[in-house]
Amino acid sequence: MSLITNPTIQVEPTKNSRLSDVDFDNLKFGQIMSDHMLVATYENGDWQEVKIVPYGDLTISPSLSALHYGQSIFEGVKAYKFNDGTVSIFRPEKNWERFNKSASRLQMPEVPEEIFLGGLNKLLDLDKNWVPSKEGSSLYIRPFMFATEAALGVHPSISYKFIIITGPVGAYYSKPISLKVETKYTRAAEGGVGFSKNAGNYALSLYPTQLANDEGFDQLMWTDAKEHKYIEEAGTANLIFRIGDTIITPHGETILHGVTRRTIMELAEKWGFKAEQRRVSVQELIDGIKNGTVSEAFAAGTAATVTPISKIGYEGEIYELPPVEGREFSNKVLAYLNDLRYGKIADEFGWNFIV
Ligand code: COI
Repeated sequence: MSLITNPTIQVEPTKNSRLSDVDFDNLKFGQIMSDHMLVATYENGDWQEVKIVPYGDLTISPSLSALHYGQSIFEGVKAYKFNDGTVSIFRPEKNWERFNKSASRLQMPEVPEEIFLGGLNKLLDLDKNWVPSKEGSSLYIRPFMFATEAALGVHPSISYKFIIITGPVGAYYSKPISLKVETKYTRAAEGGVGFSKNAGNYALSLYPTQLANDEGFDQLMWTDAKEHKYIEEAGTANLIFRIGDTIITPHGETILHGVTRRTIMELAEKWGFKAEQRRVSVQELIDGIKNGTVSEAFAAGTAATVTPISKIGYEGEIYELPPVEGREFSNKVLAYLNDLRYGKIADEFGWNFIV
């Protein structure tokens, strides 16, 4: 598929590319930023100016309302390079749709397709050489929007910036992860903002995650706010399980509706598995691990891609998942997604958007 173009975006190219400084063989997550960024300004009830400029610092007011009241949302998208040099973005229209859902929930303006997707197309066309080609690496794309009104009254800001920055990345998790089932703290409650990708959802996770890290776990498995009995997500990614021959992911408005999660569930169905989006209790998972029906558990996200879960901690006990090598579904899905995103197989679903 090809992306919408936007010829009206002004471009100010950098005079000092940093590309030659990058060690593409040792990429970590989120530490290197590409040469350019897209910046759009919302004022007087409309999007006024969209430009691509050299990546650099912003000047902000100390009374900037995003800093005080948290109107700040973001997305995570990835672009890949094929062997022939073609650059492709994976399902960015789904991120655009989700971004605007987050925007509405936080009383922020929606970003039109020609700015979000047209801007992405133009930005990546300019920074094509920043997209790594080595398998396992990609260009991480971070669109975000924040309130810019300089005022301390609690009300929706009258002005916003929408910005896209990008940078070459390696794996977010380089090995299988251990999760602690969180039964005290809460990520999201019914009627809240769990489904939206807003900065606050990540801020509130840091303290409980640190406590889990101190106990030796990599991440949390969040549970529902009311009873802490039902599994939600991992905070940095969604969760997917294989129980018997069914591929199951928790569902509801308190979790982020991930693009990778959706993609994997669509593939599961296509490949003849039963695919269910439903409530999964911690007890169902623990019982399934004990009796051997839970054969696979993994985190799924743009940054995390498909990260196997090695063990789960619950009420002081550790439950080990089967070895990663034997996990038929998650290994197959990861191999398929890699082949598709690096252009090695036909794009039968139209998920690759060519820059
Ligand atoms: C992503 O997967 O793109 C995310 O936004 C997760 C992130 C906070 C690392």
